[in-house]
Amino acid sequence: MTQDGGHAPPLIEARGIAKSYPGIVALAPISFSIEPGEKVAIAGPSGSGKTTLLELMAGMQQPDRGELLLDGRDLGRLKPGRELSSLVGMINQGYDLVPHLLAIHNVLAGRLGEWSLLRSMVSLVRPRDKHLAEAALEQLGMAGKLYERTSHLSGGEQQRLAVARVMVQSPKIILADEPVSSLDPARAEDMLDLMTGLIDDSGADGPVHTPDKALIATLHSPELILKFFTRVIGLRQGELQFDRPAGKVSIADLDDLYLLEGNGWPEGWDHGGSAGGSAGGSAGESAGQSAGQSAGQSAGPSDGGFAVA
Ligand SMILES: Nc1ncnc2c1ncn2[C@@H]1O[C@H](COP(=O)(O)OP(=O)(O)OP(=O)(O)O)[C@@H](O)[C@H]1O
Ligand SMILES: [Mg+2]
Repeated sequence: MTQDGGHAPPLIEARGIAKSYPGIVALAPISFSIEPGEKVAIAGPSGSGKTTLLELMAGMQQPDRGELLLDGRDLGRLKPGRELSSLVGMINQGYDLVPHLLAIHNVLAGRLGEWSLLRSMVSLVRPRDKHLAEAALEQLGMAGKLYERTSHLSGGEQQRLAVARVMVQSPKIILADEPVSSLDPARAEDMLDLMTGLIDDSGADGPVHTPDKALIATLHSPELILKFFTRVIGLRQGELQFDRPAGKVSIADLDDLYLLEGNGWPEGWDHGGSAGGSAGGSAGESAGQSAGQSAGQSAGPSDGGFAVA
């Protein structure tokens, strides 16, 4: 609800968005909406359009057709910089950290959308908004690493830097492209804990805690998807196969998404030992049916949300 009693728009509303490249339909028209508090996993075999969909939502590419609204506003009309960066932030697969910079500079790159060019350049000499980086790194258990060279940090610490960067940016929509694909199982869980915590701890505390952010991440592991996410969008060859609350998705459904490709499971795919078919009825399900159903599913009293935004 908004202050005037109306309903807030969904954080993301995709109306028939599609994207093609010469000779290939990367994404067939797809419609869905995502509400604050949702943690959405996008699954599907290689080439199914996952990264394309994230890039459309991040404003890095324009859809060929359809409309994409972020927080009720047409993404195509949002100005790059402050307007866009307050709405959407992306954690890329390789984390996109600059190895020779100090940790604090990589974290404060999350503020670049807010800053003028001059301010950005001055910040390389004397970090601005240092308190934001300090608060984020302290919350991630890295208080003493602010002035370490990024390349001297361990893989797990670099991963936390990428999360800290999106924390100081504090966008309403956090996108992550295969954030755990190169991590061992324990680190992968740690990373997803951090990222989903940004959603659960966001927003205002009241009689009911109401998150105001949403996470959309691509990943392959059925176990991690079902453990950490509230909703699953399954893609195959650019088409939506299903869009359901995680509670209504089985490991067999996720296995099927990959098996339907006809190539068997991809290398390194942990298929959870499920040999059976899916619960059925998943292929071609209409989009957006779960929008809102899972919003705030895991919301509960927050014991201290992220405080630097
Ligand atoms: N810039 C581009 N130019 C031409 N084709 C592209 C481009 N980007 C993606 N594609 C094609 O679009 C399709 C979808 O690609 P996309 O990267 O979205 O898949 P994905 O599901 O993220 O795959 P992966 O799991 O391998 O990352 C693929 O067939 C890919 O080759
Ligand atoms: Mg991809």
